[in-house]
Amino acid sequence: MAAAAAGGGSGPGGPAVPLRSGRSIPVLGLGTSHQGGYSHDAVVHALQKCGIRHIDTAKRYGCESLLQKAIKESGVKREDLWITTKLWHSDYGYENTKKACLESCERLGVDYLDLYLIHWPDAHVPGKSNREVRAETWTAMEELYEEGLCRSIGVSNFLISHLEQLKEDCVVTPHVNQAEYHPFQRPQELVDYCRSRGIVFEGYCPLAKGEALTHPSVIQLAKKYGKTPAQICIRWSIQNGIVTIPKSTKAERIEENCKVFDFTIAEDDVEILNGLHDGRHVSWDPSLIV
Ligand SMILES: NC(=O)c1ccc[n+]([C@@H]2O[C@H](COP(=O)([O-])OP(=O)(O)OC[C@H]3O[C@@H](n4cnc5c(N)ncnc54)[C@H](OP(=O)(O)O)[C@@H]3O)[C@@H](O)[C@H]2O)c1
Repeated sequence: MAAAAAGGGSGPGGPAVPLRSGRSIPVLGLGTSHQGGYSHDAVVHALQKCGIRHIDTAKRYGCESLLQKAIKESGVKREDLWITTKLWHSDYGYENTKKACLESCERLGVDYLDLYLIHWPDAHVPGKSNREVRAETWTAMEELYEEGLCRSIGVSNFLISHLEQLKEDCVVTPHVNQAEYHPFQRPQELVDYCRSRGIVFEGYCPLAKGEALTHPSVIQLAKKYGKTPAQICIRWSIQNGIVTIPKSTKAERIEENCKVFDFTIAEDDVEILNGLHDGRHVSWDPSLIV
């Protein structure tokens, strides 16, 4: 499997992918979001019964404090967990970034983050270019990384142009770029670019927010492998070497989404799924952000 082939080995949360920070991120995580609701019981179930050890959240999602409660109730130790959260654009800039990171840690009840991401390339700061604000923000992220408050740092929704600018402006190459990735949105050029620079590609919306689950090819492959459409989509992401973070508010679906390590999709079937790319976004399209 691509993740194991990458040399990350396997931990309590399943196979993990090594980052240039020296840490390894579990290839399968649990998404959380302000869209579609938050379920305390589902998160506790994921941690206690499904072996989930990687949680993806963001200040924007408004559930960092709720996650603190769920993690505490689950009994899973901090050191066994991978927690990613994200910096929202209202907090961009050098000073604000440092403050926002501490606030996220406080809401989550942790004294370090496993991964902190700049959420979105658009800065919305009057009188300053996005590039300038991203560089100031990233400088703060670099320091948070050096201080150990963030054990890995990265970006989200960054295109090649944004990453190229950051390369000219800053020192530390992001460890991760989290972007939309599902059968209808497979940005291979961006994935290849990230790989060429040692940036691990993390894919969000692996089920295309549910849209991919009714595609005839996905349904056909699910029947062929005796799996569900969601398991086919998640497994396909993983076989393509993508760290993936499906979200569900339902315990039984989280259980289903975690059962993806006991089968392999044959290469020609991976190609069928690869061929479904039509460029559609079910989340944000960063292509107009300079
Ligand atoms: N960085 C970014 O800008 C960004 C943007 C978007 C998302 N994300 C991250 O990516 C995560 C996942 O994205 P997402 O939630 O938008 O999309 P997704 O994971 O592709 O799809 C979630 C949807 O699929 C449903 N679902 C989940 N498992 C299912 C199953 N086994 N069978 C049928 N339906 C199922 C969920 O409904 P139920 O809850 O009813 O099960 C929900 O409606 C988010 O939680 C977030 O952490 C990041």
